[in-house]
Amino acid sequence: MDKHSRIVRQLSADCGHIIGAPIAIRCQVGYETQRNTNTTASFVLMLTRHSRSVAVACGEARRSRRIALASWIGTLVLMYGASSFAADGEKLFAPCVACHGSKGEGNATLNAPALAGQDAVYIERQLRNFRTRRRGTDKADVLGTQMQAAATTMLTDDAAVTQVASYVAKLPKTVNAKPAPGDLHNGNNKYQGICGACHGVTAEGNPALKAPRLVGLDAHYIKRQFAHFRDGVRGTDPKDTPGRQMAMMSKTLATDRDLDDIIAFIHRQGRPK
Ligand code: HEC
Ligand code: HEC
Repeated sequence: MDKHSRIVRQLSADCGHIIGAPIAIRCQVGYETQRNTNTTASFVLMLTRHSRSVAVACGEARRSRRIALASWIGTLVLMYGASSFAADGEKLFAPCVACHGSKGEGNATLNAPALAGQDAVYIERQLRNFRTRRRGTDKADVLGTQMQAAATTMLTDDAAVTQVASYVAKLPKTVNAKPAPGDLHNGNNKYQGICGACHGVTAEGNPALKAPRLVGLDAHYIKRQFAHFRDGVRGTDPKDTPGRQMAMMSKTLATDRDLDDIIAFIHRQGRPK
């Protein structure tokens, strides 16, 4: 039996009673790393109704190497996952909901961004960036690595990428339940002065300029991506023209305080008046 089967066996032994239930739970499981045995880690295990597939998100892995875990996610999914992902967007999205939420609303605790209503071309480009290792392979990008593994193993081919992207784009747009605090006056000025020309006056995105919608993204995600662009973790590949453009822009914003205010402004867009 190889190491993946051992992990799966322990998962089903510890969490077997909930298999088949459409709920997310947290469970402690033992698993084996290449070096040590019986290391424990916290996983979030999600079983979905549609495909009976399971996705495992790495929580606070103790004494373990998170990167190694990330590369197991896909294997686990495939092993539990029901053999057939029917070629239809909703079914293709079923294993993604464990992290991104059943309506694509995102899950800040798992660091998974909102996807609902995002422009299909943008979603598709990011999935391709992950699959071709243009995004999510830098050593500093632990969470991107997680998604890189998911994009590579959960989606079989280009047709699946296109289909899941178009499904996600049609999900009703979400806004942040708790808008981040900040100085809205400064946020508005800085946003309109630096970001609005590309991301749109109300941060709704502008597909013609390849700039994604920013409303709905949680504050941590926005800050992390911004820092990744600025620090050369995302948007460095010579073929990633839109990423390189954003990387250039990220160097023009002087203070973290301004970014907080910009996020406060973004979070107040798209809400019922
Ligand atoms: C194990 C949890 C997990 C699973 C399962 C998962 N994702 Fe993700 N996804 C993430 C995380 C975390 C990020 C943020 C990565 C980063 O910080 O750069 C992400 C980012 C993304 C992005 C980039 C969004 C943006 O605004 O740039 C897309 C698109 C995406 N995921 C789509 C999917 C799809 C489609 C699936 C299913 C095939 C899926 N994800 C499955 C955790 C997950
Ligand atoms: C010149 C046009 C341009 C300007 C100005 C610009 N951006 Fe961007 N931004 C982009 C493009 C294009 C992308 C998509 C990059 C990609 O495809 O990876 C992007 C991506 C992003 C992302 C990642 C979103 C996600 O879902 O992962 C964030 C966050 C972001 N921009 C924030 C900002 C903020 C904040 C400002 C203002 C301080 C700003 N941008 C100014 C073009 C721009």
